Amino acid sequence: MIVLGLNAFHADSAAALLVDGRLVAAAEEERFRRVKHWAGFPSQAIDWCLRSAGVSLSDVGCVAVNTDPKAGRLARAAYAIRHLPSPAMVIDRLRARHKRMSVEQHFATAFPGQRLTARVVPVEHHLAHLASAYYPSGFERAVALSVDGFGDFASAAWGVGIKGRLAVDGKVAFPHSLGVFYQALTQFLGFPHYGDEYKVMGLAPYGQPLYAEQLRRVVQPAASGVGFTLDTRYFRHHRERIAFDWEDGSPTFSRLYSDELVELLGPARDPGAPMEQRHKDLARSVQLVFEECYLALLGALAALHDTDALVLSGGCAQNSVANGLIAARTPFKKIFVAPAGYDAGGAVGAAYAAAVKLGEAVQAERSPYLGPEFSDDEIAVDLDAHRADILGAGCEVHRHENVAALIEDASQRIVSGQVVGWFQGRMEWGPRALGNRSIVGDPRRADMKDIINSKIKRRESFRPFAPSILREHVSEWFTQDGDVPYMSMVFPIRPEKRAQIPAVTHVDGTGRLQTIERSMNPLYADLIEACRLKTGVPMVLNTSFNENEPVVCRPVEALQCMLRTEMDAVFLGGWCVSRVQQ
Ligand SMILES: [Fe+2]
Repeated sequence: MIVLGLNAFHADSAAALLVDGRLVAAAEEERFRRVKHWAGFPSQAIDWCLRSAGVSLSDVGCVAVNTDPKAGRLARAAYAIRHLPSPAMVIDRLRARHKRMSVEQHFATAFPGQRLTARVVPVEHHLAHLASAYYPSGFERAVALSVDGFGDFASAAWGVGIKGRLAVDGKVAFPHSLGVFYQALTQFLGFPHYGDEYKVMGLAPYGQPLYAEQLRRVVQPAASGVGFTLDTRYFRHHRERIAFDWEDGSPTFSRLYSDELVELLGPARDPGAPMEQRHKDLARSVQLVFEECYLALLGALAALHDTDALVLSGGCAQNSVANGLIAARTPFKKIFVAPAGYDAGGAVGAAYAAAVKLGEAVQAERSPYLGPEFSDDEIAVDLDAHRADILGAGCEVHRHENVAALIEDASQRIVSGQVVGWFQGRMEWGPRALGNRSIVGDPRRADMKDIINSKIKRRESFRPFAPSILREHVSEWFTQDGDVPYMSMVFPIRPEKRAQIPAVTHVDGTGRLQTIERSMNPLYADLIEACRLKTGVPMVLNTSFNENEPVVCRPVEALQCMLRTEMDAVFLGGWCVSRVQQ
């Protein structure tokens, strides 16, 4: 059976395709529309998923959507009786419902002339999150946890997966939410955009946790340890209208924190205002208190289950610093973080959960390389179409005869300090570039961070760059060992190694690593191995291939990004476009 999974009508909308229980395609709509966090119906991602598998809409047997309007009805009704919602809250909920009207109608509009005969299966939001981690992991038995802002009136859920059966044992209901805590404090620190939480995480190591005591009043672990509670005095989301809209495709949130939080912590930082030490101390405090709640919940779950395997999902599972602490601070040792922990991942999870519900046998899939790919001939069409731009920018084009020549050229450029675009194979599923839509550089150069920021990224100087490291060398360079294929954990770098790789060593001596297994990405492994043979360092700096836009998807976007920035060269399949050296 063909199952099409969707995260729709929400930020980071996405589509995924299971064919006879095998995950064959997954992509986010933002990559096609070129609008970050694009929300709404993911028609272009759906279209690509179907075409990539050589099937049409009428072949789809099931459409699975990661929200169930009936879910949480009891909790919702109980909350409404206790706290009559303000008229503004009602208006917003009606608007959301209007946008969530018939899935069939959206298909009819987006795919005129094609018939959808599939059964539409709603999958509760957190069940979809849990499934997006459990089924791809391949673990037979594992504790599963999802922590996010909100979905279907809950902000967290946990359970256990045993032999392909996933049971949800508990939830945290509205208005309590660890995700809302982090999002509200992210807004407080002057980062207003949806998905800006990672900036607070990057800022945290520059500060001291001087505000931890105050923030422990704002959010606490539940008395039982399983869950957490917000002190709702400090928030607005439960009593006022929180506009969450996506009129232009890009989601916006209004302010989540109340004036009481300003009384507790002092004035909020205006976006664009100078970053003071107080803000860095606050960021460190937010991260610390978040970690305390997250690890307390994990510790309580570990005490309830006789397994050291854990699968993680939900937007809070993107907190790679907290994830890096789990193995040391809880009994969990085998940890799988979903490649897309945030809501996009619900497309994969809904597909898996619906397939299992309909009696399909499903397969694990750990590869994140599930997106579009382009042949050298297809790339040549784009290069020909933009030849005048390429020559006008002082660049030349050549094609490598074989993989060995490609790897030699690229690795030589990297170790000599060039900033290299690396566009190969299938686009990654999830937020990170993992060596197929990446910009790579030499991690040994102290100035590489500034070079990449000045030539391409122009992003906040406090944000670190990440290393991709060959899996077999992890323990030589980091004080922890483990599989981190999706860059979802931060490990401490060995103190004696830090000076050798300054470009990927954060201010606190850590690195958000991606571990490379040859079996998962042989070409990228070859590139890093070639660099290792030249320098003795088995890693490259890896940052996403983009410039204030979604990660590039098609060759033309990679080429245009290279031409409008000062990237030295881009390798597109076997092709190389490089700036002619003066
Ligand atoms: Fe979610």
